[in-house]
Amino acid sequence: MLDLVAQYATIKDDVLAAMMKVVEAQQFIMGPAIPELETAVAQLSHAKHGIGCASGTDALLLPLKALNLKPGDEVITTPFTFFATAGTIHNAGGTPVFVDILPDTFNIDPAAVKRAITPRTRAIVPVHLYGQMADMLELMQIARPLGVKVIEDAAQAIGARRKIDGEWRVAGELGWVTGYSFFPSKNLGAWGDAGMMVTSDDAAADRLKKLRLHGGAKQYHHEEVGTNSRLDTLQAAILLAKLPHLAHWSAKRREHAGYYSKALGDVPQVTPPPVDPANEHIFHQYTVRAERRDGLQAHLKKEGIGHAVYYPIPLHRQPCFADLGYKEGSLPVSEQASREVLSLPIYPELTRSQLDRVIDAIRGFYR
Ligand SMILES: Cc1ncc(COP(=O)(O)O)c(C=O)c1O
Repeated sequence: MLDLVAQYATIKDDVLAAMMKVVEAQQFIMGPAIPELETAVAQLSHAKHGIGCASGTDALLLPLKALNLKPGDEVITTPFTFFATAGTIHNAGGTPVFVDILPDTFNIDPAAVKRAITPRTRAIVPVHLYGQMADMLELMQIARPLGVKVIEDAAQAIGARRKIDGEWRVAGELGWVTGYSFFPSKNLGAWGDAGMMVTSDDAAADRLKKLRLHGGAKQYHHEEVGTNSRLDTLQAAILLAKLPHLAHWSAKRREHAGYYSKALGDVPQVTPPPVDPANEHIFHQYTVRAERRDGLQAHLKKEGIGHAVYYPIPLHRQPCFADLGYKEGSLPVSEQASREVLSLPIYPELTRSQLDRVIDAIRGFYR
């Protein structure tokens, strides 16, 4: 599914040199690589501030904490995502309100968001799933007049773009705060856990800087209770060394996606992932809908071909959220997606013959 060793071979010298600089300076905590990476990622996101943190999960948790949610405060999000999107809403003291997704892009449905707004709605957390941006224009138009904050979960979408009124707008540009994950499998992956928040709101940036450092900008002075969610300097140095490759890696993923989608076009049992014409997708995942998905999965396993189901159980059906009262059938588009999706290998270093093997195996199953 993912061969990180293949990538390592291409960047080893640069990344090891960057790591050794940190090692030789013995500056492991809040070293100079951190502000450098923060500036670079903020720029990439057309945002004023980058605030590094320990993980993509914390990159959502800290802005949610900054909302000072009270019991009963609601945060609208998608159930068709990685657990952290909703787990952090709960851990920040809010109630996740799940709404359904669009059947083509798998992203949150703005019309469903609109219907779910109540006087208790404090925020909306769209996820740019698989590397394709959600409809940020519609979402901002719903949220802004109500004073509702939009926190973009861009864990899978660093560098993704969307044309709005003829102009490219990027992930991280339009929301109040955006969270990135640098989990090793991401398009820009660290060699461990790491994350970052970006925002153009000066007050939010100050608050987030405090929250990641035990609630105080000055050592031993605590205006509020925060936590330790620093970005590790070694990880920042690794990410800085990898960052110049990101655009090329994402372009390679797009190229592979195009190849798969063309080849699978004549397999009627498989629906390649539609790309919203306004979007430039970064294909963190290449996810098809497949008839007899579980059978196809077993077949690929037998053939030794990597694959994964993201995500087999939508979050409104997770036992930990049973109290919220959702039932089977509550969010049918998400539930159907969970039964039908299958992600195929899409990492940049894949060769044409490897892609052909995946395609042949899929054809073989339906023949
Ligand atoms: C959509 C989404 N949100 C949040 C996260 C959490 O990021 P992390 O694993 O870095 O905590 C991830 C990734 O793992 C993700 O895919």
